[in-house]
Amino acid sequence: MATVLALETSCDETAAAIVRDRTLLSSVVASQIEIHRPYGGIVPEVASRHHVVTLGDSISAALTQAGVGWNDIDGVAATCTPGLVGALMVGLTAGKTLAMVRQKPFLGVHHLEGHIYANYLASPDLQPPYLCLLVSGGHTSLIYVKGCGQYQTLGQTRDDAAGEAFDKVARLMGLGYPGGPVIDRLAQQGDPKAFPLPEGNISLPTGGFHPYDSSFSGLKTAMLRLVEKLRAEGIDPLPVADLAASFQATVARSLTRRVVACARDYGLSTVAVGGGVAANSGLRHHLQQAATDHDLRVIFPPLSLCTDNAAMIGCAAADHLNQGHRSGPELGPRSRLDLAQVMDLYSPIPRP
Ligand code: KG4
Ligand code: ZN
Repeated sequence: MATVLALETSCDETAAAIVRDRTLLSSVVASQIEIHRPYGGIVPEVASRHHVVTLGDSISAALTQAGVGWNDIDGVAATCTPGLVGALMVGLTAGKTLAMVRQKPFLGVHHLEGHIYANYLASPDLQPPYLCLLVSGGHTSLIYVKGCGQYQTLGQTRDDAAGEAFDKVARLMGLGYPGGPVIDRLAQQGDPKAFPLPEGNISLPTGGFHPYDSSFSGLKTAMLRLVEKLRAEGIDPLPVADLAASFQATVARSLTRRVVACARDYGLSTVAVGGGVAANSGLRHHLQQAATDHDLRVIFPPLSLCTDNAAMIGCAAADHLNQGHRSGPELGPRSRLDLAQVMDLYSPIPRP
């Protein structure tokens, strides 16, 4: 059993959490959304500066809310990749320093492995192998989860990530930032069949379409043309609810189709979902329907664990710690690292 203090500062949330294996003891998330909103997106330098200001209080709150002291902590973890390097540096440096001063093992954690592990906090009985659909602001991937630190990417986006598509489409409709939650809210009052939109299939040179890869840039352009056409026709205000519902249903249908094909081809009967877009009601609805139709077990983290948080980082770190994995003091932040290389973050396990 491992109790971990985990830090997450890869993007625009400053987060600290205490996790004991697959049990969340506390999770503190200080969102910077209001700070970045006037810029219409995240300003990396501003994000780093706010992590510096907020992280200390977040750590104290996480320890207090969990009711644990340093004697109860078995290890300290921080997200080290992928993300904004300056932002990652804040959590990583704080984590390594605390580990050194308190003489605890330190573990750097891959942010996407964290999103996968959010599912263990919600469903502690989950066991590999299973398929994980990772859908965040920066990634859209289908991952074959074989075990702790063992991942194979089976499908991915060829251009925009799903969350990025939500954000860009919201911006072109003048709905503000971040776009995912706004579109989700509007879509619930709209007609998903109002506007037919392209799903973004990837053609193969041999004919047919790639069964697992996706593309969202064509869909985004189709939305732009549609909005321009409606404006040129003098339609004011725009039918934003119908536009949002049609866009969201197209993304959800496209992702669900790929999940079903991948699970079937690889003989996987359990599908976990992770990342900010896992909070999307349309995606949840389509995947739940697919679960019924195709006899799959589909699980989602609760909404608070879909978007960025440190509890998921702590859960991944606890598993690595239990396996004897440790990161060295030289570990630095990396803007990207393939999930297949997660074990590069840890020292080899000493032979008994
Ligand atoms: O995982 P996350 O918090 O950060 C990254 O690791 O990227 O994901 C953020 C993304 C943003 O693009 C945001 O618009 C999207 O997740 N998102 C949503 C919803 N909530 C957040 N997208 C669709 N529907 C939502 N309800
Ligand atoms: Zn994330």
